[in-house]
Amino acid sequence: MPMSSYKKGIILAGGTGSRLYPETRTVSKQLLPVFDKPMIHYPLTTLILAGIHEILIISTPNHLGSFEHLLGDGHDLGISLQYAAQVTPDGLPEAYVIGRRFIGSDNVVMVLGDNIFYGPHFEQQLATATSRRSGGTIFVKTIEDANRYGVLELDPEGRPLSLEEKPAKPKSNLAVTGIYFFDNRVLDIAADLTPSARGETEIVDVIRHYLDLGELCVEQLDSECAWLDAGTHESLTLAARSIEEAQRQDGIKIGCPEQAALTMGFIAEKHREAGGSGAT
Ligand code: DAU
Repeated sequence: MPMSSYKKGIILAGGTGSRLYPETRTVSKQLLPVFDKPMIHYPLTTLILAGIHEILIISTPNHLGSFEHLLGDGHDLGISLQYAAQVTPDGLPEAYVIGRRFIGSDNVVMVLGDNIFYGPHFEQQLATATSRRSGGTIFVKTIEDANRYGVLELDPEGRPLSLEEKPAKPKSNLAVTGIYFFDNRVLDIAADLTPSARGETEIVDVIRHYLDLGELCVEQLDSECAWLDAGTHESLTLAARSIEEAQRQDGIKIGCPEQAALTMGFIAEKHREAGGSGAT
């Protein structure tokens, strides 16, 4: 396993969830169940599988307490969980502004609270991304309706060429998924952004910065890796069905933070540090 250059992560779990009204009038979208567990368990598992020990959860001021009630300080998982509020949903890059003190001088991986990933080669790709000391890494996936997402265009040699947010006519079918690995320069890049026409700062502008510097790496998820964005009623239902089916077929648990913490040795580590036997 290559050495990791990342120890800090952010789960961005705010927003209005308006596409899931009326449920999300009272409950945070990222706390809704996706089959047998709350949505946030999936991105939390992703960060643990990426070897991340220190995690900041960002949500709306009125929902933050529910996340804390559910997940606590993370010590049961051998990680540290902190919480911060985003008062208004002014854009994904605001997470880096809110998280500035938490990130300090480190690199940081951010995952969106409604993005679910699983597949046989995904963990290896996470390890490749966290082994890169500088620059940025995005994960992309070939899909049919890429116009609903950030879209990446590659040159004939397979190098990243251009990026657009929800283009009417996408230049490729490569959608940019909601997991982003950036070095510490992201703090200043995010702080300098101006809002787009839709009134939000855009994550594609951050990614484009690394692209222009020639320091953007791209991990392509293969056809065996599922990427589910559970932001609408349709995609939430589809995500729940996919998880149920995959768990039944393969006899595995997807999005289980406890299992991920064991796999990564986080829980055993915690026991060792506490002077325990290391057994769990
Ligand atoms: O899912 C991947 C896509 O996520 C990317 O392909 C796009 O480039 C990226 O802009 C984003 O697109 P979405 O349309 O999915 O973004 P949305 O506004 O729905 O926000 C994604 C999640 O982040 C959602 O769960 C709500 C949360 N959020 C969003 C904003 C704008 C926040 O917590 N705070 C915010 O300010």
